[in-house]
Amino acid sequence: MSIKNLNIVILAAGKGTRMQSALPKVLHRLAGKALLAHVIDVAKGLNPSKLVVIYGYGGDAVPKAFAYEDIEWVEQKEQLGTGHAVLQAAPYLDEEGTTLILLGDVPLLSKQSCLSLLDKTETIGLLTVSKPNPTGYGRIVRNDMKKILSIVEHQDATEDQRSITEVNTGIIAVNNQYLKPWLSKLSNQNAQGEYYLTDIVAMAVNDGLNVVAEITHDEVSVEGVNSKADLANLERVYQHRYAHSLMQAGATLMDPLRIDVRGSLVIGKDVEIDVGCVFEGAVVLGDGVRVGPYCVIKDSSIGAGSEIAAFTQIDHALVASNCKLGPYARLRPGAQINDGAHIGNFVEIKNSHLGANSKVNHLSYVGDATIGKNVNIGAGTITCNYDGVNKYRTIIEDDVFIGSDTQLVAPVIIGEGATIAAGSTITKNAPAGQLTFCRAKDQKSIASWKRPVKKN
Ligand code: UD1
Ligand code: CA
Repeated sequence: MSIKNLNIVILAAGKGTRMQSALPKVLHRLAGKALLAHVIDVAKGLNPSKLVVIYGYGGDAVPKAFAYEDIEWVEQKEQLGTGHAVLQAAPYLDEEGTTLILLGDVPLLSKQSCLSLLDKTETIGLLTVSKPNPTGYGRIVRNDMKKILSIVEHQDATEDQRSITEVNTGIIAVNNQYLKPWLSKLSNQNAQGEYYLTDIVAMAVNDGLNVVAEITHDEVSVEGVNSKADLANLERVYQHRYAHSLMQAGATLMDPLRIDVRGSLVIGKDVEIDVGCVFEGAVVLGDGVRVGPYCVIKDSSIGAGSEIAAFTQIDHALVASNCKLGPYARLRPGAQINDGAHIGNFVEIKNSHLGANSKVNHLSYVGDATIGKNVNIGAGTITCNYDGVNKYRTIIEDDVFIGSDTQLVAPVIIGEGATIAAGSTITKNAPAGQLTFCRAKDQKSIASWKRPVKKN
């Protein structure tokens, strides 16, 4: 759906003093993504013809944090109030159409509320919410006929007005023909000495125009972040909602309160996820995948039937079907694990392919390696891929058996079906089908040897 001549202005100039941080407030992250990015995504979903973001505190840090194109970044050098902020955007707005004003620190904003608000707005529409404790918010003042008369800010409100529980969320839609003249008439003669955007409501009423309200019942969707506690609270709401959407899609979550998704998690059927897992970026779990407790999976795809045991970390890796990983496995960027392969405890795999049904079960480092099918890599095997300056590849062909505690000094090729004896340091290619070993020649025993004893 596309609204005719929709302009959107996002206010994001504030410092956010109560965040107690050097970072501009809107760059703090919710579910791994800057607060402002959440709002920009909703805005983009409404297909505006113009999208203006007002920034100020932190200078260029805010625009620089976004690679988005087609955003008009407008600086508000001094934060003189929400009306002054929107005034900075005025030159960029269309002559006709509607401007939707959003706040950069309201990350759970719902697209549907914006659409409902826009739908009923002719001249001016307010997204409002009822708050049991409305302290600090602008109150929606209505007459006996429930007609909206004005918004009065908390600090300017009378005792009577302070008892009003319907408040301004800050999200306002205004017809462009009226907005610009109203903005130019704002004054800062009020309790905070600021140019209040909210004063345009009384101006509209004065001009005999109708002010409408869309009342939302989803309170958290219009909640702004002002402190780290607010941020943590909305993060939990977000995560809980995400967990519920996963369960609706059929996932079994051992505890929906103990899963964190910072990005997108796409799941097949019959996926099971144990407690304490974190999913970052774009993660795909195929049918029947089971993820044990406390795994961290980032930008990776796990094939059907694979099982990931506790404390496994997977980053930019591809795991095919019916693999077994962990506990305590680590797949680093470029790891590609084929069908039926096993990766066991304390195994690190980087930029390597592991063929179908191959096993690296214990205490190994596999980096820059291409490993074929049905290979068994013994405990404590290390691919020595780095000479301190350059990196080299290790190639291990199908059906190879590498004995425990072997160092493979790259570049090196282990031929198909070769066996490497335990404890070898392999610096030259090993021929296919043969046993190759390279260890200290003689095994000696010293009968007279005594263990050292502690000196007094
Ligand atoms: C504002 C509303 C109030 C509403 C509340 C909802 C006004 C005058 N008041 O109050 O009715 O209930 O939001 O949270 O509009 N900002 C700028 N430049 C400025 C001032 C603010 O970009 O000069 C941005 C802030 O970064 C923030 C947003 O606008 O994201 C709201 O500003 P804030 O100071 O929090 O407004 P409130 O006083 O809370
Ligand atoms: Ca606020």
